[in-house]
Amino acid sequence: MVQVKNICCIGAGYVGGPTCAVIAYKCHHIKVTIVDLNTDRIAAWNSHQLPIYEPGLDEVVFERRGKNLFFTTEIEDAVNEADLIFVSVNTPTKKSGMGAGFAADLVYVESATRGIASVAKSSKIVVEKSTVPCRTAESMRTILETNSTGNLRFDILSNPEFLAEGTAIKDLLYPDRVLIGALQTPEGRKAQQALAEVYANWVSTDRIITTNLWSSELSKLAANAFLAQRISSINALSALCEATGADIDEVAYACGRDARIGPKFLKASVGFGGSCFQKDILNLVYLSEQLNLPEVAAYWKQVVDLNEYQKKRFVERIIKTLFHTITNKEIALLGFAFKKDTGDTRESAAITLCKHFIQERATVRIYDPKVADEQIFLDLTEPGIVITRSPYDASRNVDAIVIATEWDEFKELDYTRIYKNMKKPAFIFDGRLILDADKLQKIGFRVHTIGRKENEK
Ligand code: NAI
Repeated sequence: MVQVKNICCIGAGYVGGPTCAVIAYKCHHIKVTIVDLNTDRIAAWNSHQLPIYEPGLDEVVFERRGKNLFFTTEIEDAVNEADLIFVSVNTPTKKSGMGAGFAADLVYVESATRGIASVAKSSKIVVEKSTVPCRTAESMRTILETNSTGNLRFDILSNPEFLAEGTAIKDLLYPDRVLIGALQTPEGRKAQQALAEVYANWVSTDRIITTNLWSSELSKLAANAFLAQRISSINALSALCEATGADIDEVAYACGRDARIGPKFLKASVGFGGSCFQKDILNLVYLSEQLNLPEVAAYWKQVVDLNEYQKKRFVERIIKTLFHTITNKEIALLGFAFKKDTGDTRESAAITLCKHFIQERATVRIYDPKVADEQIFLDLTEPGIVITRSPYDASRNVDAIVIATEWDEFKELDYTRIYKNMKKPAFIFDGRLILDADKLQKIGFRVHTIGRKENEK
């Protein structure tokens, strides 16, 4: 029985950082070293201001850092010392070349794998943590076996991560399941068992699922496709609600009470964002096309198309309501992160909304409690945006407020004060269904909510 005593994680991002910090937190007998090429990121992990915001992350890191949890750019040493290595690097959608716009860019996975092969002096268990296309483990094994020196063994496991940003620490401490795929050979099963033992330090064994490698790789893409599909389904229904007078929250509740459907992930919104859903579905679409399954590809592609439609539809509703023009008007955008409780803006619906507003030559006054100013300037290079320090500052003298992220604090604002300082009529567009429309209407607002007709006077 292999016992894991030393773990290295390549990639100190949203997944590698929290995931391996929790392993260190729960397994004091294991030394965990998280490495990255990005020196600024590693410096931040070693400082008081961690590079990512996640509720509960500071406590976990500050408790174990310097004891059995280390962050470094000394990749070679960490790889050499480790008996198990997580590869948790980014796998973005390819921007050019074959499969551009759909396929996952595996350049970082390959370079991390080659890095392991070139420095390894002992046998290793190598774990795909990144989300990758089905059968990537096979390529990793070939690279490792043909590029290493000596008689080393590399067992490849697939252990996709199911955490959601904003609840990462909770998801890692109490996962619904941990999935570990391995080649079904005696050595593969041994490696699978070794990783299962690590998780068994805090996860009950009935929640640790072991499968073959390809099922594990495909399950990650499938799980994200299912989740995104639910959002696109409810968003498609929200368009029907706006046209008919049905209320999307009531429809979601009525449907969700059916135990076969369930209530979770049925909140209509301006559209899903985040670094994963779109990327992973497009990856699935590409895989389906490559396998000559065009009908399957078209089915999943529609989930992404509907998401784009939802954002466009929301923008059109805003322009139409603001008397068919927003040129030279000012709009307060509350929320820039792709969801609450994170500072991550990757694929945030807010970015698309802002770009549309700016194209129409409106000025956008942005407020988000967690997103750094520099990040907003990276996401929006166009002129026409103002970053503000509070929702009150953002909404001063504007024509309309748009809720783009469901931050809890937006439910509790002093809307009477906000109303007084806005141009009239004062419009508010709730893209996240978090506001009390009746209350706002009583103050004097004209309220437009996704999935509802305008509040009738
Ligand atoms: P990220 O971009 O935040 O972090 C990846 C890190 O890997 C970067 O800091 C980068 O500098 C580093 N890196 C790249 N190549 C390297 C190399 N050769 N050596 C050392 N470091 C290297 O990405 P994130 O969000 O952590 O995602 C990682 C993977 O996990 C992706 O495949 C993603 O699809 C998957 N995933 C992401 C989730 C999320 O919520 N962000 C959830 C579940 C899976």
